Amino acid sequence: MLSRSILSRQACLRKSSHFSQRFASTKSLRETLQEVIPAKQEQLKKLKTEHGQAVLGDVKVDNVIGGMRGLKAMLWEASVLDPIEGIRFHGLSIPDCQKVLPAAPGGKEIIPESMLWLLLTGQVPTPEQTLALSRELAEKGELPKFLEELVDSFPRTLHPMTQLGMGVAALNHDSSFQAAYERGMKKPEYWSHTLEDCINLIARLPALAARIYRNVYKPGTDLAPIDKNLDLVGNYSNLLGYGDNHSLTEYLRLYIALHGDHEGGNASAHTAHLVGSTLSDPYLSYSAALFALAGPLHGLANQEVLRWQMAMQKELGNDITHEKIKEYLWKTLKSGQVVPGYGHGVLRNPDPRFIALQEFCESRPELKSSPIIDLVNKTFQVAPDVLKEHGKTKNPYPNVDATSGCVLYHYGLTEFKYYTVIFGVSRALGALTQLVWARALGLPLERPKSLSMDAIEKLIKNA
Ligand SMILES: CC(C)(COP(=O)(O)OP(=O)(O)OC[C@H]1O[C@@H](n2cnc3c(N)ncnc32)[C@H](O)[C@@H]1OP(=O)(O)O)[C@@H](O)C(=O)NCCC(=O)NCCS
Repeated sequence: MLSRSILSRQACLRKSSHFSQRFASTKSLRETLQEVIPAKQEQLKKLKTEHGQAVLGDVKVDNVIGGMRGLKAMLWEASVLDPIEGIRFHGLSIPDCQKVLPAAPGGKEIIPESMLWLLLTGQVPTPEQTLALSRELAEKGELPKFLEELVDSFPRTLHPMTQLGMGVAALNHDSSFQAAYERGMKKPEYWSHTLEDCINLIARLPALAARIYRNVYKPGTDLAPIDKNLDLVGNYSNLLGYGDNHSLTEYLRLYIALHGDHEGGNASAHTAHLVGSTLSDPYLSYSAALFALAGPLHGLANQEVLRWQMAMQKELGNDITHEKIKEYLWKTLKSGQVVPGYGHGVLRNPDPRFIALQEFCESRPELKSSPIIDLVNKTFQVAPDVLKEHGKTKNPYPNVDATSGCVLYHYGLTEFKYYTVIFGVSRALGALTQLVWARALGLPLERPKSLSMDAIEKLIKNA
């Protein structure tokens, strides 16, 4: 049963004109998508015919040699990232989502199923629809036997992210898209098979990710079966062996929902989109994305933050003052390292996901008194000014990783090499959503033009 407070919150919000048009009907996820796709197809057609030649910006040499920063060059439906305001999912900010998206039964935080529904359809699901999606995911959550054997055969010393990427790729054994493609399916059928693969993959991620955790960190212990009455994260937490830790489970729900999507240009999302544009199936596309996420400048940063904050804690001992933290920050910078958890490719303000996680910490007495969270807070009070004085980073403020791993650590999930796997479970929501939209909109093979330095110089000379 859903808690009364959640239902009354939903009922109350339904009356608000701002959100009323966003609530889905009683339809299933597939039916809702089927309903919204034609309007989006029409919008794209109109955009192409009426504005196909409109200019969105210049391409400067700096853009080409600067990792394509600032180039408006990708279509991505589910979210848009504003440098100052942060992320919006189909126009809804994080506080908006916290107000309108259903929580888990008995919980308060956004449930990833409701975020997935919003990302896919642009609509806010009802608690009943969210519950139905949870059940569908739980019903599809078991791993095939061959995959269990494959994962169990990996050496314990293989990085958990490598194991996750390999496991996800191998799930394409059962790809509906690939099988239908081989049978000669027509283009209008693409999105439906893509959706089927995406839902199956999201459903199986907790069992796969938890199996990797068990094999690497708790070998020889039993894995709980999937409970059909639990939501995606409820099952994930249970499989990890933390099912009784309700605070951690709630935190994981919020973490996974907030990490679900961060527009399309980030390395993991972009990789999924690029590989998917070749009509590789969603398993292969998302597997490739996971290997982009495994880099230290991207998803690995949350484990780096914890390692760095703990080294700071060890060095400062009980003498944790702003002055001492400042000295430690300068020591990090002078040794040529980046301050992990700070800076961003697009954001130029504190990351609203960081703020949402900080608010979660503020709302829990056990986190308020946690030494590691206290250190994160004190670092936040000092680091932006140090980074400004250092003068290199364009964004001296914290990103989501400044705190995300430290909360996991406080709640007892202390194996930091595993943290990026949790990010990998999360990012599937947005990256897979885009694969469905790319197929529904018939987006083409991605193929930007590259230039050599000589070719750039020639172009400039002839301009
Ligand atoms: C996220 C990140 C990769 C963005 O990179 P970017 O878009 O190139 O960032 P900028 O344009 O601000 O970088 C300009 C310079 O500032 C440096 N810089 C950026 N963030 C920095 C940080 N947190 N600490 C120290 N230096 C930093 C860059 O290394 C670069 O130096 P360079 O000119 O010597 O190469 C970068 O800020 C970073 O490495 N942060 C730490 C890792 C992290 O938290 N990653 C998670 C991202 S969600």
